[in-house]
Amino acid sequence: MFILSIDTSCDDTCISIIKSKKQKAKSKNTNFEILSNVVSSQVKVHAKYGGIVPYLAKREHQKNLAMVFKKTLAKSKIQNPKIIDFIAVTIGPGLEPCLWQGINFAKNLANDLKKPIVPVNHLEGHILANFLKPINKSLKSKTFKIFPAVGLVVSGGHTELFLMKNIGKYKLLGETRDDAAGECLDKIARILNLEYPGGPAIAQLADQWKLKTLNPKLKIQNSKPSIKLPRPMIYQKNYDFSFSGLKTAVLYLTKKIGPTKLKDPKIKANICFEVQQAIIDVLISKTIRAAKEYKVKSILIGGGVSANKELRKQFKLKLTINNLQLNFLAPPKKFCTDNAAMIGIAGYFGFLRNKQKPPEKIKAKANLML
Ligand code: KG4
Ligand code: ZN
Repeated sequence: MFILSIDTSCDDTCISIIKSKKQKAKSKNTNFEILSNVVSSQVKVHAKYGGIVPYLAKREHQKNLAMVFKKTLAKSKIQNPKIIDFIAVTIGPGLEPCLWQGINFAKNLANDLKKPIVPVNHLEGHILANFLKPINKSLKSKTFKIFPAVGLVVSGGHTELFLMKNIGKYKLLGETRDDAAGECLDKIARILNLEYPGGPAIAQLADQWKLKTLNPKLKIQNSKPSIKLPRPMIYQKNYDFSFSGLKTAVLYLTKKIGPTKLKDPKIKANICFEVQQAIIDVLISKTIRAAKEYKVKSILIGGGVSANKELRKQFKLKLTINNLQLNFLAPPKKFCTDNAAMIGIAGYFGFLRNKQKPPEKIKAKANLML
């Protein structure tokens, strides 16, 4: 089965073609071949604003979609697009004018090719990106049991924790009450005069600080960070998050430090380390508490922030230290940030659940919930 998928929910124009190797309903060990996965990034367009400007993002999608489609077909070596079984497209959540660009493109294509469309939730795409690689090897148990699981989507627009009874059966446990984790990283990067997107820039400086302060002989940190930032809502007995207070704390801190001292790369690196660690502490603590409460078999993470090396490392470490026999799944890094292959896989599972619709029924839903 060939699936063409499109995502224009935010600032990347993404089109992919994947091939599923098994079609049986409820079969979780389907293998997927990614024939092409083209991402046309708009980072350069938005970088000078320190965040995404919706009308510019829409304009770029409009400009890029046909070219990205051509490139996707060429890379997949598909001569005739009629071979495609259906089109999967993100209908939300996301920036509404951007979503419509992808949807309208999908509709025209579906009408031309006479194929159905499977509407996809972008957040489901992020978490199901975990199935883009064969995952048997990473599972603790030989019997293939992933579910029930706890899913954590951490991206630029979302921080959501949910219970996954199975693919397609989700219950929201908690979400951010204000800024998403990635949004917080992007805003703090802007305060610190770092480049956009902020997550990778902050991670890089955090790594530098860690290396500088690491005692090479003892392999432990010999000095605690002199800067201490809050871990918002970490002790609250719910699964909600809040990151805007962390951003405000950094703003006050930088004002206190003053612009001259802030030029010291060591101080900046120390702030980055502490910001990253504060976010990691909250994400890990709440996710593991949910995993214990709901007695799940696995933790699945996804979204741009899940590409963070320290987050992935510390999740695994925490599970080992606490002797928790849980599977921990994180997508390959290139499938953490926005891409259309993840929409293809979510579309595939949607197709198995008969979610396909005629093109005229497909609409953008900017605030779509999982
Ligand atoms: O999932 P994504 O590509 O787009 C949305 O759906 O929002 O996530 C983008 C977010 C940005 O906020 C970016 O700063 C963050 O993911 N990000 C990272 C890393 N790579 C991207 N955050 C921390 N560490 C990274 N390595
Ligand atoms: Zn995303």
